[in-house]
Amino acid sequence: MSRIICSIVAILLASSALALELSDSQRADIETRIAPVGEVCMQGDNSCGGAAVAASSGPRSGEDVYNSACMACHTTGAGGAPMLGDATAWADRIAKGNEVLYASGVNGVPGTGMIAKGGCMQCSDEEIHAAVDYMVAGSQ
Ligand code: HEC
Repeated sequence: MSRIICSIVAILLASSALALELSDSQRADIETRIAPVGEVCMQGDNSCGGAAVAASSGPRSGEDVYNSACMACHTTGAGGAPMLGDATAWADRIAKGNEVLYASGVNGVPGTGMIAKGGCMQCSDEEIHAAVDYMVAGSQ
């Protein structure tokens, strides 16, 4: 009886040892399969993650930025903000030229409710410029 148990244990041990034993090619295979999970993709690094990721992390359109970061004031006129579409309110500002308006968008207008980047600190300068373009185009 004890002999049978002994051999059953021996068989179990042998087979579990087998299950843990991976050939080099199996190991390499598994490492390849799990590799993408462990990879760290930095923003702007197009070498990993593929085109889909690169595309979705690109700059947002001026309209998107406006809708998420600027409309709170520029649709309501809050605090004296020139409203989108109000050609009269924008004429003198547009006359200052794009560079001045871009700078106001990025740095804000000191002493007014126009804070730097409209408070959207995660917006890139490029995205703020696009939002300014969108506002200017819609206010002439
Ligand atoms: C908290 C309110 C607020 C938010 C949010 C806001 N603005 Fe403004 N903005 C103002 C006010 C107030 C003015 C008028 C400032 C002044 O008196 O010249 C203004 C003026 C401007 C001007 C004209 C500046 C000039 O030099 O004549 C631009 C361009 C502008 N905003 C861009 C933006 C953009 C782009 C965003 C979003 C990313 C934004 N603003 C978000 C309040 C805001």
